Amino acid sequence: MSKKRYMVTSALPYANGPLHIGHIAGAMLPADIYVRYLRAAGEDVAWICGSDEHGAAITLKAKKEGISPKEVVDRYHVLMRDAFAGFGISFDHYDRTSSPEHHKNAQEFFLKLLENDAFEVKTELQYFDTEAKQFLADRYITGTCPKCSHDKAYGDQCENCGSALSPNDLINPKSVLSGSTPKLKETSLWYLPMGDHEVWLRDYLEKGTLDGKHHHDVKDWKKHVLGQCKSWIDGGLQSRAMTRDLDWGVPVPLEGADGKVLYVWLDAPIGYITATKNWAAANGKNWEQYWKSEDTELIHFIGKDNIVFHCLIFPILLKAHGSYNLPYNVPANEFMNLEGDKISTSRNWAVWLHEYLEEFPGKQDELRYVLCSIMPEQKDSEFTWGDYKDRVNNELADILGNFINRVVVLTHKYFDGEVPAAGPLSERDVNVLNAIEEISSNVAESIRSFRFRDALAEAMNLARLGNKYMTEEEPWKVWKTDPDRVKTIMHVCLQVAANCPFVLHPFLPFTSEKLGVTFGVDYLDWARAGRELMKAGQRIGTSEILFTKVDDALVEKQQLKLAEAKKESVVKEVEPMKELISFEQFGAMDIRIGEILEAERVPKTKKLLKLKVNTGVDVRTVVSGIAESYEPEQAVGKKVTILINLAPREIKGIVSEGMILMAEDDAGVLSFVSPERDSIVSGNGVR
Ligand code: MF3
Ligand code: ZN
Repeated sequence: MSKKRYMVTSALPYANGPLHIGHIAGAMLPADIYVRYLRAAGEDVAWICGSDEHGAAITLKAKKEGISPKEVVDRYHVLMRDAFAGFGISFDHYDRTSSPEHHKNAQEFFLKLLENDAFEVKTELQYFDTEAKQFLADRYITGTCPKCSHDKAYGDQCENCGSALSPNDLINPKSVLSGSTPKLKETSLWYLPMGDHEVWLRDYLEKGTLDGKHHHDVKDWKKHVLGQCKSWIDGGLQSRAMTRDLDWGVPVPLEGADGKVLYVWLDAPIGYITATKNWAAANGKNWEQYWKSEDTELIHFIGKDNIVFHCLIFPILLKAHGSYNLPYNVPANEFMNLEGDKISTSRNWAVWLHEYLEEFPGKQDELRYVLCSIMPEQKDSEFTWGDYKDRVNNELADILGNFINRVVVLTHKYFDGEVPAAGPLSERDVNVLNAIEEISSNVAESIRSFRFRDALAEAMNLARLGNKYMTEEEPWKVWKTDPDRVKTIMHVCLQVAANCPFVLHPFLPFTSEKLGVTFGVDYLDWARAGRELMKAGQRIGTSEILFTKVDDALVEKQQLKLAEAKKESVVKEVEPMKELISFEQFGAMDIRIGEILEAERVPKTKKLLKLKVNTGVDVRTVVSGIAESYEPEQAVGKKVTILINLAPREIKGIVSEGMILMAEDDAGVLSFVSPERDSIVSGNGVR
């Protein structure tokens, strides 16, 4: 049964920095393509988004810059909104979560959940930074992951192994604010007992049923999305705190709850609803139809780090509230990397949208095209400027641009800009004309099933087909011998060319607008596409060159820019200073210069080398996690700094006696801390 209405959301980006290509490729571009198509197909759709303005992402940024959280969100909300608009990201409504309307809506939602007994209140001991006078949760606290021993796990999650964590799980917790070891202090929190929901969540996600009824086809969901959900559920659903002791966020609307706010992952998805209400009020719509009516499909576009929130937590909240629809599909994308490294806002390793718009005016479609071509739909993908150049030159310019240009120029040259009537059609003419409909329905089907790369490739096939047809029919040669045949060839070419904006517009809205003018077609109505689009005698307009070629200099310039950014960022990402220690504590450490005599890999490990080190005092065994930075033979002979009075520890069955000091670069590559002058290994300490 096909539905009547679509409620589409894109993950609300944190207003803590400018937008980059990862944002577009993850949750925005796929939704834009989907929604542009649905609108053209005459469907009833609301697409909302907005800035996520709460949470540690914002307050930590404010602290770093020495400004207030409000200043942070005001600055980036505007920057983000404008960058989206610049790229033709066609939200029906772009909102923000710091608005009074949202605070009120989120508070009402919370109270309704309380009324329905969705939460458990627990009073317990939580980590508190006595210097900063603040409770520590989420990104405010780091420590060692209890599951994988990664030493930079956060209070809510370990980014190394993906485990969901609570601050109290962390080994060796440290405050991000002061670097100090936090103390435990009593507070009360509202918990969502996720475990209580396991049974119906399994039915919903694994069978696509809800309350015993069919809800959606599981086979329409992406495998990696279902896989992640299943592993969360199989791992045991823990209760999750839905409030925080912070002063930035939506205040908990209860007496005696001063200084408490809703957890950002509770308030932000409710932001989807607030945004819809605001959109509906401004446009004479009924918001409840979009969120509650049975014939509305709720579709969340997100990146893969948001899966648990949209497939488990938000559905629990929606269901507990009572009358809301649950997500019909969550077509999450994986990550897009950049030139061999993870995109990172803090390390400035990104292609920033506002910069692209400035440096490449009028070339939004080029970036949209490339990002859609390599969209990380099923697995991570990678953007490189070399690939950008190849795709723009070989596909957009050589195929689409070239075809359109030839059609327009020849129509003017031979027929004074008038569509010629076709004579008798060859088999090939008929095949080409028939392909128009086939391609258009393939594009539609791929878009409806969230296969945007396929959809774009198929849409480009229309231009490719036209280009090939023209090249092989050679109207410029035939003109000399059989001008009547040229009429037919150009008639066919014009049908193909004029259909291009129909199938391409979800991907390339700016180019399609130009083509719409050139051919005088209403490309925003999918139903008008077809083989008889251009009537004989109709006049066409002129056309400019649609895509200029990218040269190597541009690629190099962009790569250089990234390299510069990387250099600068090294300075930025320093850990806060640890607590002061006494001279006695320093003196207790026996640090020497030693020489590595032997080195071999520890079997079945990636990181570990087993070393024999001459410390000057003795020769001893040290197991060191440097195998990703040094081959065993590179390590032998190196003078290194070693702490020799560290209590021995058994690692992979080997007793390690000491710790070698290492320096780490921005990319995580380690190097020995070695004496600058060639010290003799004499057993002398480091002073
Ligand atoms: N701000 C979050 C992020 O960037 C996404 C929030 S999506 C919402 O990861 F559902 F909470 F709105
Ligand atoms: Zn971990």
